[in-house]
Amino acid sequence: MCGIVGYIGNQDVKETILSGLEKLEYRGYDSAGIAILNGNGINIYKDKGRIAHLRNVVDFGVKGTVGIGHTRWATHGKPNKVNSHPHQSSTKRFTLVHNGIIENEDALRLEYLKDTKFESDTDTEVVVQMIQKFVDEGQEVPLAIRYTLTLIEGSYALAILDQENPEVIYVAKNKSPLLIGKGEGFNMVGSDAMAMIHHTNQFYELHDKEFAVITKENITIYNLFGMTINRDYYIGELDATDIEKGTYPHYMLKEIDEQPFVLRRIIANYQNEMGQLSMDENILSAIRQSDRVYIVACGTSYHAGLVGKHLLEKVASKPTEIHVSSEFVYNTPLLSERPFFVFISQSGETADSRAVLVKVKEMGYPTLSITNVKGSTLYRETQYQLLLHAGPEIAVASTKAYTAQIAVLAILACKVAVTCDIDMLKELSIAANVMEALCDNKELYDQLARTYLATTRNCFYIGRHVDYYTCLEAALKLKEISYIQTEGFAAGELKHGTIALIEDNTPVIAIITQEGINLNTRSNIKEVKARGAAVITMSLKRLSSKTDQIIIGDVHEYLAPLVSVIPAQLLSYYAALHRDCDIDKPRNLAKSVTVE
Ligand code: F6R
Repeated sequence: MCGIVGYIGNQDVKETILSGLEKLEYRGYDSAGIAILNGNGINIYKDKGRIAHLRNVVDFGVKGTVGIGHTRWATHGKPNKVNSHPHQSSTKRFTLVHNGIIENEDALRLEYLKDTKFESDTDTEVVVQMIQKFVDEGQEVPLAIRYTLTLIEGSYALAILDQENPEVIYVAKNKSPLLIGKGEGFNMVGSDAMAMIHHTNQFYELHDKEFAVITKENITIYNLFGMTINRDYYIGELDATDIEKGTYPHYMLKEIDEQPFVLRRIIANYQNEMGQLSMDENILSAIRQSDRVYIVACGTSYHAGLVGKHLLEKVASKPTEIHVSSEFVYNTPLLSERPFFVFISQSGETADSRAVLVKVKEMGYPTLSITNVKGSTLYRETQYQLLLHAGPEIAVASTKAYTAQIAVLAILACKVAVTCDIDMLKELSIAANVMEALCDNKELYDQLARTYLATTRNCFYIGRHVDYYTCLEAALKLKEISYIQTEGFAAGELKHGTIALIEDNTPVIAIITQEGINLNTRSNIKEVKARGAAVITMSLKRLSSKTDQIIIGDVHEYLAPLVSVIPAQLLSYYAALHRDCDIDKPRNLAKSVTVE
């Protein structure tokens, strides 16, 4: 959701910034722009649409060694050229890109900018106009920026150029992500390491309410009072080849295929020298001391949390609740006496989850993040951390992070348990092999998607018990990339209303992985078939019947959600392919949802 790249050095900036923005495309955006600063002033190129289109808009004849770029995911004002970033102050002296939301923009307009004529509908323009105003009133530029920041409420990652000082990029951050990349004879700024990893692997974190002045030789970080902050850079672990598609047509397919490997990597990372699963004892004892675990997450991570709740309760006998972050923050349930909070987030940047984190930290409760991104906001701000080790997930639709989340939760549940009844290491290894076999059978999903999903208007996933959780995730996956209206349904609930929607040839995909509900779900299959549904049944081998189209190799029933989601991911992928959808960058969606 919005991406920022900036560069200051000796090279012409255009390609560095454009290719950096391409690395941020996965975050989701609807328009893009860049500003190049040189001795002749500022050159701005921006428009609605993809970076590929921006490349046609940019004048490659214009050179400059300082620049900033932006991908915008519209919040205030339509996605169009005028609302695209960069934005400029009325005198054109200051140029700025912004990720986040200025919540008090109306109050700021009234109090400080009554006479200002605005070009765009964005909240962002308020910031650049205020900087200009305070500079016009006589403040030095860094002070004018810091003063503006003290007046802003909301979230921001900002990169600012001053036409009268082409030796500097000013940056600032609050709640929205921003990293500074340190180079030799150049420095960079980016929403995440992926935008910079081809140039440097040395990064400075910028914390909330910090401001930095970046030249090609120096990086100086300040707090909003102007005091210098000393901070060491860290070496990013990201491998530049991890963020390439290789021979795959789409990142999503690559990431689906990576799942067995990711699972094995998780097993390896959570093993001690004796070859046993192991986890930070501090986390385990904090959870054991709590009387209830509260899992908080959004979207796909929430669905992994549903499975996590099941695992913690069944394997570790730990009472667990799960909540959607955006609901929890404003409608907090009655909490137990000694709660322990678990935040599940692929990106570690989701604003809804972070809002809950801020709240429960104020209440003084222990917090754990399970994220894929070391150093992300949730990672940094929680007391305890567990990493997913899934490698960068670039397709907007989450796949390998989801199974990695379930795997880490399974290990956590096993380690929290006083005695774990299942040989988790062995069972996870079996699951990795089953995943591999499923991924090797792509023609089947291609064929099923072509037959059942290529032209349908709607679709249902049905299942009971943990299969219901997989249905929710499967439905989300299908709707978000193929735009087929899909519902994940508890199979037994159909007859209480939703069965009215079943017509001739409505696709219904049934998932059966749990022995106790096999016959019940099969009865529900008969009910929908009797009303004309075109049913695809997927089942674990030991529960399968001759007519089931997708057979999943046997795994421990607790780990079935790890493997049963893979056919669903592949069906979504091929459905979207047959419907000619933009698989890796579905409309209206962002990978990293940094606004509430
Ligand atoms: C769907 C998807 C989203 C995310 C959600 C939370 O494929 O990716 O539903 O799961 O936006 O994001 P994270 O996990 O980064 O907190």
